[in-house]
Amino acid sequence: MQLWFLSFVCLFVPVRSEEFPSLITANASLVLDRQYLGEKYQTVLDELKDYIKELARVELKHGGVIVYYYSWTAISLKKGFLAVFSIASCEDTWELFSRTEEEELLLFALTEVDCPRLPSRSAITATFADPGQELPQLLLDLRTSNSFQWKSAIILHDDTLSRDMVSRVVQSLTSQIDDESASPVSVTVFKMKHEINEYLRRKEMQRVLSKLPVKYIGECENFIAVVTSDVMTTMAETARDLLMSHTMAQWLYVISDTNAQNGNLSNLINDLYEGENVAYIYNLTDNSPDCKNGLMCYCQEMLDAFVSALDSAIQEEFDVAAQVSDEEWEAIRPNKIQRRDMLLRHMQQHIASKSQCGNCSTWRALAADTWGATYRGQSDNPDSTASNTNGTIGVIEKVELLNVGYWRPIDAVRLTDVLFPHIHHGFRGKELPIITFHNPPWTILQRNESGAIVKYSGLIFDIINQLAKNKNFTIKVILPSIIKKDLTNDTLSDAMLSMDAKLAISAVVKGQGAIAAAAFTVLADHTPGINYTMPVSIQSYSFMIARPRELSRALLFLLPFTTDTWLCLGLAVILMGPTLYIVHRLSPYYEAMEITRQGGLATIHNCLWYIYGALLQQGGMYLPRADSGRLVVGTWWLVVLVVVTTYSGNLVAFLTFPKQEVPVTTVAELLENRALYTWSINKGSYLEMELKNSDEPKYAALLKGAELIPTAVGPSTAAISRSALLQRVRFHRHVIIDWKLHLSDMVNADRMESDNCDFALSIEEFLDEKVAMIVPAGSPYLPVINKELMRMHKAGLITRWLNAYLPKKDRCWKTSSVMQEVNNHTVNLSDMQGSFFVLFMDGQLAIDRDRWKEGREAFALQWDTNG
Ligand SMILES: *[C@@H]1O[C@H](CO)[C@@H](O)[C@H](O)[C@H]1NC(C)=O
Ligand SMILES: *[C@@H]1O[C@H](CO)[C@@H](O)[C@H](O)[C@H]1NC(C)=O
Ligand SMILES: *[C@@H]1O[C@H](CO)[C@@H](O)[C@H](O)[C@H]1NC(C)=O
Ligand SMILES: *[C@@H]1O[C@H](CO)[C@@H](O)[C@H](O)[C@H]1NC(C)=O
Ligand SMILES: *[C@@H]1O[C@H](CO)[C@@H](O)[C@H](O)[C@H]1NC(C)=O
Ligand SMILES: *[C@@H]1O[C@H](CO)[C@@H](O)[C@H](O)[C@H]1NC(C)=O
Ligand SMILES: *[C@@H]1O[C@H](CO)[C@@H](O)[C@H](O)[C@H]1NC(C)=O
Ligand SMILES: *[C@@H]1O[C@H](CO)[C@@H](O)[C@H](O)[C@H]1NC(C)=O
Ligand SMILES: *[C@@H]1O[C@H](CO)[C@@H](O)[C@H](O)[C@H]1NC(C)=O
Ligand SMILES: *[C@@H]1O[C@H](CO)[C@@H](O)[C@H](O)[C@H]1NC(C)=O
Ligand SMILES: *[C@@H]1O[C@H](CO)[C@@H](O)[C@H](O)[C@H]1NC(C)=O
Repeated sequence: MQLWFLSFVCLFVPVRSEEFPSLITANASLVLDRQYLGEKYQTVLDELKDYIKELARVELKHGGVIVYYYSWTAISLKKGFLAVFSIASCEDTWELFSRTEEEELLLFALTEVDCPRLPSRSAITATFADPGQELPQLLLDLRTSNSFQWKSAIILHDDTLSRDMVSRVVQSLTSQIDDESASPVSVTVFKMKHEINEYLRRKEMQRVLSKLPVKYIGECENFIAVVTSDVMTTMAETARDLLMSHTMAQWLYVISDTNAQNGNLSNLINDLYEGENVAYIYNLTDNSPDCKNGLMCYCQEMLDAFVSALDSAIQEEFDVAAQVSDEEWEAIRPNKIQRRDMLLRHMQQHIASKSQCGNCSTWRALAADTWGATYRGQSDNPDSTASNTNGTIGVIEKVELLNVGYWRPIDAVRLTDVLFPHIHHGFRGKELPIITFHNPPWTILQRNESGAIVKYSGLIFDIINQLAKNKNFTIKVILPSIIKKDLTNDTLSDAMLSMDAKLAISAVVKGQGAIAAAAFTVLADHTPGINYTMPVSIQSYSFMIARPRELSRALLFLLPFTTDTWLCLGLAVILMGPTLYIVHRLSPYYEAMEITRQGGLATIHNCLWYIYGALLQQGGMYLPRADSGRLVVGTWWLVVLVVVTTYSGNLVAFLTFPKQEVPVTTVAELLENRALYTWSINKGSYLEMELKNSDEPKYAALLKGAELIPTAVGPSTAAISRSALLQRVRFHRHVIIDWKLHLSDMVNADRMESDNCDFALSIEEFLDEKVAMIVPAGSPYLPVINKELMRMHKAGLITRWLNAYLPKKDRCWKTSSVMQEVNNHTVNLSDMQGSFFVLFMDGQLAIDRDRWKEGREAFALQWDTNG
């Protein structure tokens, strides 16, 4: 609390003139508080009175101003005042402000240092500080103007800040302010010794920075370094070495030992790297003797601004009022708030353009434009790379600093841009080289007839476009084919990669592109010099098999019983004939009753036919007379009843429900049927590698039994081999194992062509393959891209985009087709053909037999066993 300070309020009251009911004359009031005044009170008051009188006389051409002077801030404001000017302590100023807000008055206040400024939408605040004391106010103003929206920050300082100053700085960042927009920042303060020796300084820096409470590298952290310029240089380098200066961290350097004469900061900044967020605020104080400063200076300047604003406001209202009638004027004249806003705007403009007081204690803010800076000149020259001669990516050769704004005591921070442009605006509309190639559905390059690429689409481009929108960059597409083909030595000997992919990777390794926008399989042993982004998609493997067909219905009549049932049945018939014969024969009944066994069951042959006929429910004419024989026949009839009922019931079921082949839907089932099926996988694919590395016996067996199909070279051969493979699947029990995505694509293409659903995909999906984009190794933007990808995943955007490129579910997906057929299946010839075969064969047999047994019993006799 400075002793000189006086509390002082000045009130301006508008006065209505007789002729023009506008603010032609103004009632003004000015309040001083004796408490803070000391002996200065009287001199200040006298000086101000004289100044205002003179000002009103000279400058206020269109009216007058009546000024009331108070030495007490607790005045009543209910007098229809226009504006209040106060010189008071911080507390009193805010207290006064709350009352002028109620009355909708304009308040312009001069107050002590370290005072949060009144909201600039309804008041003007000037803080007066002795030169060299302004740092806490500067940080406070940065905070209240929302230049950084931080919740926490780490303050690093050297001897620039005295102990007293440190507590003021901390206070200015952490204090609670009525203005709800500026929430307090929680700070941690670290002091470092100021070492003159470069080596010792570096060591000290290392010590301090390495023990900072940064939870893990890559976390969002905000740093305020209040240091001298040479420490700044060392600190920037050390922070970079410790990986603390990255895309998520924000570094604000406050450099105090510069001044207006040696204030070219560009010379002090050695180098900047891609992806850093660095802003500088540096001292541009001019120590020249003709600098204006002091309490009276500020008072006079604010009064000047007010009188000028008042004058032009009166002039304006006068002009309008002169053109309309009094009644109209009453209707359209500005109300209190409009008047206040007009005066405020005018005063602010006046101060910004004309103010001289404290102009010497200026601080300037610069922001480093680093994101995408190394790609800036590159677009014209595709051969240039982002890495410099030493091969380290990211050093920006031509550092560009943006002039963000300045700070002055009278009008606080005036920012023309944001302090951390990349946090708010991403790449600031820069052009980034993106490497890509045609690889549907990930990247689709559409060409017009003359071969020029007219459209880029596909999932990856959906993602890249969203990324460009969120991170504010434009896309310059680079095709691998236009990159010089110096890939004669095929160092990337992966069969998994196409030529385009290899070229793209080598271009990324050389830093020719910021991202390779294509789908790359994430491999553990990838080419050095690249990093994968987060997986864009996870593709699972599946297999494609011919859809299970309906079994032929030719032998439908045999189906109700299994083979062994038929065999048993046949055996029973064959055994029952002799059994009946023997029982019939040995029975003493006939001897006892003296009945001759004639005809009928007298021969084995007839017994057989009798049993067979009974099976077909054709009873014989003669039954045994003895109980024993009847028992045998009766039992047989019982058996026949059961067998026949079962058979006909089952036959109906088989007629209704068409019998399908057993479907193979999982890998285990495929392996079980390995005798029946063959299968193939692409040679050199990720799948082959994964199967090779897998411990599971299932996968080992799968690989062992697989045909490895080399990837076809050239589109025409690929098409031929593909259709050949499809024919094998269709007719020869072959199975293709590939990405589910590819397979469903093939199924869909085949359906389009021939309009049938011949293929089915396995239910089981196995072995996930991660697909990601790639960036150069150590790219600072990897976390940025990953964060955006994560957001897109969470929002479900990527799934939605991918689905748009996948075949729609169509009738081949339907499983209920079988059920539909059941409802209106009528038995047709193909169901019945089996029985006609039998009839035909039977006829043949009978004729053959007749020829063979010429002259013997008639054909009819075989049916009628009574002979
Ligand atoms: C100045 O304000 C006082 C109230 O404080 C009021 O009574 C007086 O009429 C005003 N002067 C003029 C010229 O309106
Ligand atoms: C700013 O620079 C001036 C002149 O070099 C110096 O007097 C003043 O102390 C500096 N301000 C701070 C906060 O160090
Ligand atoms: C600062 O120095 C650089 C070169 O060292 C020069 O290009 C630039 O104009 C200077 N800036 C000012 C404000 O003097
Ligand atoms: C005051 O300083 C600002 C910023 O340094 C400058 O733009 C302006 O011209 C100066 N005003 C005067 C009147 O010198
Ligand atoms: C390249 O590396 C050498 C030593 O490894 C170093 O002296 C030189 O400054 C580096 N050049 C650049 C541009 O980084
Ligand atoms: C993109 O950058 C430009 C240049 O800095 C900026 O004007 C614009 O507001 C930014 N757009 C977005 C959406 O941040
Ligand atoms: C193909 O596109 C290029 C570039 O947009 C254009 O110059 C060319 O005329 C187009 N050709 C045809 C046949 O449309
Ligand atoms: C190709 O690579 C091998 C080693 O990988 C190297 O010895 C050879 O010189 C290279 N050839 C060319 C033409 O670069
Ligand atoms: C980038 O790749 C390098 C190896 O090429 C690896 O050491 C590093 O951990 C990767 N970075 C990230 C963020 O994955
Ligand atoms: C089966 O019957 C339903 C109605 O019961 C009918 O809509 C459908 O067209 C029939 N299907 C065939 C193949 O006849
Ligand atoms: C008999 O019906 C089945 C099923 O409805 C059908 O697939 C078959 O073609 C039909 N056969 C004849 C000869 O009509």
